[in-house]
Amino acid sequence: MPSSMPIIIDTDPGQDDAVAILLALASPEIDVLGITAVAGNVPLRLTEKNARKICELAGKPETKVFSGAIRPMVRQLVTAEEVHGKTGLNGPQLAEPTMPLQPQHAVDFIVETLMREESGTVTLCALGPLTNVAQALNREPKIAPRIKQIVLMGGGFFEGGNVTPTAEFNIYVDPHAADVVLKSGVPIVMMPLDCTHKALTTAKRTAAFRNRGTRVCVAVADMLEFFERFDEQKYGTDGGPLHDPCVIAWLLKPELFSGRFCNVTVETASELTMGMTVADWWGVTKRPKNATFMRDIDHEGFFELLIERIGRL
Ligand code: BDR
Ligand code: CA
Repeated sequence: MPSSMPIIIDTDPGQDDAVAILLALASPEIDVLGITAVAGNVPLRLTEKNARKICELAGKPETKVFSGAIRPMVRQLVTAEEVHGKTGLNGPQLAEPTMPLQPQHAVDFIVETLMREESGTVTLCALGPLTNVAQALNREPKIAPRIKQIVLMGGGFFEGGNVTPTAEFNIYVDPHAADVVLKSGVPIVMMPLDCTHKALTTAKRTAAFRNRGTRVCVAVADMLEFFERFDEQKYGTDGGPLHDPCVIAWLLKPELFSGRFCNVTVETASELTMGMTVADWWGVTKRPKNATFMRDIDHEGFFELLIERIGRL
């Protein structure tokens, strides 16, 4: 593993996005070149602000945060306040951010960074709807072969969906963007619900964050307690699935995850199954393999990593 992995985090914070960003900012192996906000869990004016609140919470106000797409490529924006609260980051009391938002548009930043940095070195980590990433690929197709990989949270196959019976939220919000990404030819690692639904926060794990006693860990515990209540009720589980940090954890410890390289396609036509990701797990089609579709996680190891790293901030 190189000592520094340059990444761009595209995100719609979101408490689980927040934990993913904290994990990245706490990890010396990772160099966060920029954070690009997209509309998703809540509208863009809140996601870009939440991204800055998290950087300040981490004690990294020098991190560059950019604002991106205000709405999906084709469909109307769907948000998820019922999960994340009105602000998208309900739970802890976080001050209004004072660090600036960068003047450049997120899509321009993604394109410019990939054209500038050495080809094959920069990883895109996508934690929300894929609108910014797809728009960058459409704006400058030359970036595709220069991207090291896209690691994304999205989709679900065996597990079904979380926003419709067949679709996961990030892909459902902008299925057309997901289609662009899945057809881009860029190496893709997917963290679908099949994997993230096994990463449950549980009372014991939330308490472990709280007991660390640092400002950041207490804020994380407050976030998790707010965030998990919705899924606990829905699924009847102890804790909620901590989706987005799986993306960053894979960069740090890929051995925590297992899956299969296969073809993944997204539904963009049928209203009934809009945004469904169809994984050809058994290789029954001749469609080309385009993504590593994760299905399992060592959830104990995952939470150990999270608590140890975020505990450093
Ligand atoms: C995804 O949707 C959002 O609500 C979460 O932040 C995560 O990225 C899970 O379906
Ligand atoms: Ca997210």
